Amino acid sequence: MNDLFLRACRRERVERTPVWFMRQAGRYMPEYRKMREARTLLELIKTPELAVQVTLQPMVLGVDAAILFADILLPLEPMGASFEFAKGEGPVIHEPIANRDQIDRLRVIDPEESLPYVLSTVRLLKRELKVPLIGFAGGPFTLASYLVEGGKSANFAKTKRLMFGAPDAWSALMEKLGEVVRRYLRAQIAAGVDAVQLFDSWVGDLAPADYVQYVQPHVRRVLTDVESIGVPVIHFGTGTAALLEEMRSAGGTVVGVDFCTPLDSAWARIGYDRGVQGNMDPCALLATRAVATAHAQRVLDAAAGRPGHVFNLGHGIVPETPVDNVRAVVEYVRQASAR
Ligand code: CP3
Repeated sequence: MNDLFLRACRRERVERTPVWFMRQAGRYMPEYRKMREARTLLELIKTPELAVQVTLQPMVLGVDAAILFADILLPLEPMGASFEFAKGEGPVIHEPIANRDQIDRLRVIDPEESLPYVLSTVRLLKRELKVPLIGFAGGPFTLASYLVEGGKSANFAKTKRLMFGAPDAWSALMEKLGEVVRRYLRAQIAAGVDAVQLFDSWVGDLAPADYVQYVQPHVRRVLTDVESIGVPVIHFGTGTAALLEEMRSAGGTVVGVDFCTPLDSAWARIGYDRGVQGNMDPCALLATRAVATAHAQRVLDAAAGRPGHVFNLGHGIVPETPVDNVRAVVEYVRQASAR
């Protein structure tokens, strides 16, 4: 078993920097597009044999970890908020949450009962993989934003109207989501994942004082509990330049850094007693190989060979990305980081 990724998360000495990519399985890969021709995203995710295949597709690129093929929104359906991925629009929640009554009706699910297909995928993958498997869940704020907005949003106006205007209802919603996320991550770990990542992708839209008041206690409760199990926990968000200290304080063995924040100063602020993950601009993979590898080198320079760096992008791979550039960056990081 190649355990470079896990050793780096624990800030142990490694022979080279491990590398994987957020959204490493997906539309930029022709094999994935082929599987999607006849099926929806949810059909792929809910059929463990197919979800296993998709998870394994990027392994040919030489990455040092696999991420479970699933989606952060999956727990919302059994909680009582059905949704679909509409063509060209992204997620659509059928009945967005607008009041306290709806919040009170949301179910705090048992993942073994409500999301068995995800846990079956984990168990099947563990037999196949030669690298660690990363499980994941959405952060409570990020999940709440989809529930309240009904889909993606430019300014999170409805979410913030609830948060600022009805703090008790907000708190009840965050508590339910936090408890579901905590149980879901625990269930994935029990099923065999070697590490987990919390995708609190949209917290960067909050001022630090509001993050601290309305979000951080809920994230802290989840991360403290999950970290106590002993597997590495990656705490990720985007647009988080102003929040890194507070995210660190909420928890995480490793803090994910977005691509707008220089990794060297980010790490100094997070503290060298934590690992960091990131943070190449995903769109640098759209240019020539020379440009892509130069961006990879910039990230390696900023990490300066310190123990605790996991190479990744600052956000997910975009669908237009040439597969060869991804492969070139993996090879480059393997060679250039060898010590
Ligand atoms: O390879 C991996 O990273 C694992 C699989 C994964 C998916 N979604 C599959 C997926 C992961 C980790 C996610 C997380 C996720 N899902 C996040 C947080 C990460 C981030 O990007 O910040 C969010 C916000 C979602 C919600 C979501 N799912 C949106 C907004 C969309 C539509 C946007 C889009 O790219 O079309 C999805 C769909 C989705 N989830 C796809 C994939 C591969 C698109 C694939 C398809 O339509 O076939």
